[in-house]
Parts: sequence; structure tokens; C-alpha cells
Amino acid sequence: MKLQLLPWELYWEEQTDLDFMRDDPDEANHPIRIRMGKEAERVAEPVLFSGEIPKVLDVGCGTAIDYPRLVELGLEYWAVEPIPKFIARARELYPEIRIEQRRVWDIPFADNRFDVVWCKGVVQHLPPGTYPEALDELWRVTKTLLMVSTNRVFLSSAGITHRERGDPYDNHYNFKEFLGHVRSLPNSMTRHVKGFVRRENLEEAKKTGRIHTLFLIYDLDYWKEHHETA
Ligand SMILES: C[S@@+](CC[C@H](N)C(=O)[O-])C[C@H]1O[C@@H](n2cnc3c(N)ncnc32)[C@H](O)[C@@H]1O
Repeated sequence: MKLQLLPWELYWEEQTDLDFMRDDPDEANHPIRIRMGKEAERVAEPVLFSGEIPKVLDVGCGTAIDYPRLVELGLEYWAVEPIPKFIARARELYPEIRIEQRRVWDIPFADNRFDVVWCKGVVQHLPPGTYPEALDELWRVTKTLLMVSTNRVFLSSAGITHRERGDPYDNHYNFKEFLGHVRSLPNSMTRHVKGFVRRENLEEAKKTGRIHTLFLIYDLDYWKEHHETA
């Protein structure tokens, strides 16, 4: 199936540099990616120990910067991404990669399929009104841990894509509403961890608010078994 790109998605296909994140050699080791990797590892370890292969789904993977880290941790990597040029680049870099052209609100996998669902830096680019649908779909395919990272700048301004394209959507990212929906996902336990920023960007980040924030959403039964009594 080939997706017809939506107007705001043309930004990614036509205006971003193919290696828009890879041109920074430190990007793959951004503190939020390292933290997400540690959380994924905690979930993956007992699965590996039981003789199963833990699965991760990277949603909106771009060119799959996180692929090497997740494979290294022993996770079976799957990805969805809507933009053809990013998919092509990911396949060029990692010919064995499993990646499908889909959007966050239309994930072609069964319920609870993935031990870890990884959605890094995507939700702030979604159009207004789509968060509930996107979160429900992410949670539907999650077995144990859903990680959604975003950027605090969107607390008070429009999403990056829309802003750079001069789109009229202003203040479309309602952080409180988002948090409320995250917390209402069925049988879930949410932790919200704020303040991921590279040391060298700290001063600038304080001014711009470009500090990453991470939602860790656990299956409640897993949480009770592994964390509540720890
Ligand atoms: C800032 S990039 C992050 C890419 C990658 N997750 C990373 O951290 O390197 C945002 C990504 O979200 C993707 N994206 C935009 N709209 C999407 C949607 N509706 N569903 C899934 N991914 C989407 C973009 O194509 C792009 O790859």
C-alpha cells in the first residue's frame, strides 16, 4: 500500500534534508535516546531471560537512528514511518530493517504485539485533534511499555512542522490535554520525566523551551509486578 502524503507531511518529503538529524554526529546519543534505551532494556531483559525475543516498534522512525541501539539490546526491531524518502534511507543503511509506510494512527499490527513501543519526537508534529487517536493506537499495540517523547516548546506554541510551513494552527499542542489523555489510557501507569537536554544546549534550551520530555506508559499489571514493591 502506498500512502498519499497529507499537505503538512510534504514538509518532510520536500523540505527536510535527508539526513536532517544524522548530520549531527551526537544526535544518536542524545540523553533522551539513551534514557529510552535504558527503559527498553529493563523491559527486554526478563523476556530474553525467558527465552523469547522481545519486540520493539519504532513509530515515526525517520531514518531509523535508533535502530542500532535497539538491535544491540537484543530487541527485534519493527518500524512504521509515512515519508518515502526516510524509509528509503533507512533501508539503504539497514537493508534487513522491517519498516512499513504507515502513520501513527494506523498501525498494521495486532493488539499487544510489542513489548516496547518507541515514539520519539513525533507527536509534536501531528495536526490538532489527532492526539487521542494516535495515543490509543500506540497503546493498542503495546504489551508492556509505551514511550512517547516530545518537546516542551509545544507547551505554548505550534508544532514545528506547522510553524515552519506558516500553517495557521497556533497553540494546537495542549500539553495538559495530552497528559490527561495519556493518563486515561486503560490499564496503564504513566510516569512523566522532564528535562532532557544536551549539556551544551542547556542555556539556549532555557530560553527556547526546547527541552525534551518523556512519557513512560506501563501496562499496569507489569508495573505492579516490577515497580510498585521495588
Ligand atoms: C523529528 S522526526 C523524528 C524521527 C525519529 N523518531 C528520530 O527521533 O530520529 C519526526 C518524524 O515523525 C514522522 N511523522 C510525521 N507525521 C507522522 C504520522 N502521522 N505518523 C507517524 N510518523 C509521522 C516524520 O516523518 C518524521 O520521521
